[in-house]
Amino acid sequence: MREDMARGPDNSPRRALLAVLAAVGTAMTAAISPGAVARISQKGLDYACQEGTAVLRKELEKIEIPDYSRKFKIKPLGKGNYSFYSMNVRGFQLPSPQIPLVPNVGLKLFIGNASVKISGKWKAQKSFIKTSGNFDLTVEGISIVADLKMGSDPTSGKPTFACSSCRSHVSSVGVHISGSKLGWLIRLFRENIESSIRNTIQDEICKVVTNSVSSELQPYFQNLPVMTKIDAVAGIDYRLVASPAATSEYLDGHLKGEFFSLAHRIPPPFAPSALELPADHDRMVYLGLSEYFFNTAGLVYYEAGVLKLTLTDEMIPKTSTFRLTTRFFGTFLPEVAKMFPNMNMQLAISVSTPPHLSMQSSGLALTPYLEAETFAILPNSSLASLFLLGLSTNASVEVGATSSRLVGELKLDRLLLELKHSNIGPFPVAPLQAMMDYVVPTLVLPRVNQRLQKGFPLPMPSHVQLYNPMLRSHQGFLLFGADVHHG
Ligand SMILES: *[C@@H]1O[C@H](CO)[C@@H](O)[C@H](O)[C@H]1NC(C)=O
Ligand SMILES: *[C@@H]1O[C@H](CO)[C@@H](O)[C@H](O)[C@H]1NC(C)=O
Ligand SMILES: *[C@@H]1O[C@H](CO)[C@@H](O)[C@H](O)[C@H]1NC(C)=O
Ligand SMILES: *[C@@H]1O[C@H](CO)[C@@H](O)[C@H](O)[C@H]1NC(C)=O
Repeated sequence: MREDMARGPDNSPRRALLAVLAAVGTAMTAAISPGAVARISQKGLDYACQEGTAVLRKELEKIEIPDYSRKFKIKPLGKGNYSFYSMNVRGFQLPSPQIPLVPNVGLKLFIGNASVKISGKWKAQKSFIKTSGNFDLTVEGISIVADLKMGSDPTSGKPTFACSSCRSHVSSVGVHISGSKLGWLIRLFRENIESSIRNTIQDEICKVVTNSVSSELQPYFQNLPVMTKIDAVAGIDYRLVASPAATSEYLDGHLKGEFFSLAHRIPPPFAPSALELPADHDRMVYLGLSEYFFNTAGLVYYEAGVLKLTLTDEMIPKTSTFRLTTRFFGTFLPEVAKMFPNMNMQLAISVSTPPHLSMQSSGLALTPYLEAETFAILPNSSLASLFLLGLSTNASVEVGATSSRLVGELKLDRLLLELKHSNIGPFPVAPLQAMMDYVVPTLVLPRVNQRLQKGFPLPMPSHVQLYNPMLRSHQGFLLFGADVHHG
């Protein structure tokens, strides 16, 4: 009856709908191109493996071996009992651990030929005769094979780890019993304690491995800064857009790779194009940053209205012959001095369209369009607009990296001037060229570069330092590679 209801006609359309939703969901997930790709090479995994094994060893050494007490009854001897107790795991050797990549699945943890030493005490009793001693025990040929399943938490965009299967096997246990008169007696029960310990070790290892993944590895990545506020205006979204993907050589995390406005986040009007990183593998980690990543930065800062600067005469060094005064401008634009005699001026420079950056193998290039509006400052402090200039130039960005940030330096080519609007009548722009060639590189550019030198954070877990950095620009993206040190 119940089964009939479960398969009832009401359920069929709902199931069909769920199937469609699932399919749409999958298609949508698949359609998201990353703005950045974080990659860990086998070299990086080998390093992570070393670090991880050190943690695992400590956890394994906490394995508690329960006391083992039994009664015995042997023909000529009669009845008695014995115990093995106070057993301590003294050292776990985990030689040559490996984390091989399993394409399309994830990672494996493979440890072969591990061994552990255990020491403890024994005692035996037969009627009124009591005897006791110590023993040492070596468990050898321990193998551990575990599958590490990786995913991404859709809300936080952080990677998730789970141990999806684990097997361990112990090939030999050898006990050495030292002690007094009845040592020979306890040796009779050697096999019992050996098999008890073999079972305990075999069972506990996988519990420890599974538990270490969920209580050590997983929390470690919970601290990954994937949504970082970088200043008053913007943040960077480094969340995973899909589960980490394993190939035979790499583990790739596809990241959103996008700047966003802290005040008002809206999706950018452009999408990232496919990002195919080259097969470099001599560094432990790589980060591919697409044009999209940099262009969302330009967009966010542009829309926040922060890409502008107002210059006044006080900001120009006293030693300079260029002045922001109507008297100085009057030397090449007589109208200015005539209409606004003896006044200070203001120059408002702003970026007029969101800066678009393009990446070639030769470097990062952009063509910023600027506007410079000039004002006379009237005696009552209000501003009279004189004229508006358009400035275009070719610029390049040299990108560098510190141990945790990406920094840059903007370099400008020649400035091209154009008169866009004038309230003082038409005039040729040529005489203004020298003024702009002075103002932009000495007053504007250093401010931009000061910000770029502060840089932008890279998506790194805590206590990780980068060294051996390398940066190379490719068609469409910038490739950053480094070795890591966890300290
Ligand atoms: C396993 O380790 C022992 C020493 O702990 C060593 O003698 C033996 O050669 C190793 N076997 C393999 C297959 O590595
Ligand atoms: C033997 O059994 C007795 C009674 O159960 C107990 O008091 C004693 O501690 C045991 N001795 C050993 C060596 O396990
Ligand atoms: C400042 O002076 C100018 C011209 O003298 C005048 O047009 C303008 O309205 C004045 N502005 C204010 C705020 O008083
Ligand atoms: C920028 O470079 C391009 C190609 O070299 C050139 O055609 C253009 O005139 C340059 N623009 C400026 C403002 O220098």
